[in-house]
Amino acid sequence: MTTEGVDIEKRRFLTQAAAVIGAIGTGAAAVPFISSMKPSAKAEALGAPVEVDISKIEPGQLIRVLWRGKPVWILHRTPNVLAALPTLDDQLRDPQSKQSEQPKAMANELRSLKPEIFVAVGICTHLGCSPVYRPEIAPADLGPEWKGGFFCPCHGSRFDLAGRVYKAVPAPTNLEIPPYHYTSDTRILIGLSGEE
Ligand code: FES
Repeated sequence: MTTEGVDIEKRRFLTQAAAVIGAIGTGAAAVPFISSMKPSAKAEALGAPVEVDISKIEPGQLIRVLWRGKPVWILHRTPNVLAALPTLDDQLRDPQSKQSEQPKAMANELRSLKPEIFVAVGICTHLGCSPVYRPEIAPADLGPEWKGGFFCPCHGSRFDLAGRVYKAVPAPTNLEIPPYHYTSDTRILIGLSGEE
């Protein structure tokens, strides 16, 4: 692809990203997009793995990167979030993530390789909208039981901060976890489990 072609692709992507963020509206947590970590448009189209430096993600912060044309979230979970996750199990459809999509090593309550770093595909498992990161505790619009999670504005599906879906919402399964592994203490490679 020519340099101009790459620029057009980048512009198109950034325009779409801006439209998505605009559609979320006020009240949504700001989610920085790490464009410098994006591979070339051609590599991305081929599904190349994406390496991400996670050293600057603050506790409670969520960033997003693009992998295979999908938004992938990387969230730095706090000790309070990790402590709250097991208390939610009774409210969830698949708390141990036995029927959901993730690499085998992450079919458990936390759904991650390291407890504090959570990686997920940011696409609702109902009809594909992008859920909103809502880390607040008991906000007025989500109710007193809300301990932080992801809320899908399209039809109201709710997920906790391990991407586990609540009961009685339209989404049938937990959010997808992509294959990834650590290449060092501060870098992850999204797209390969490390077992290949
Ligand atoms: S697409 Fe998310 S609830 Fe329908």
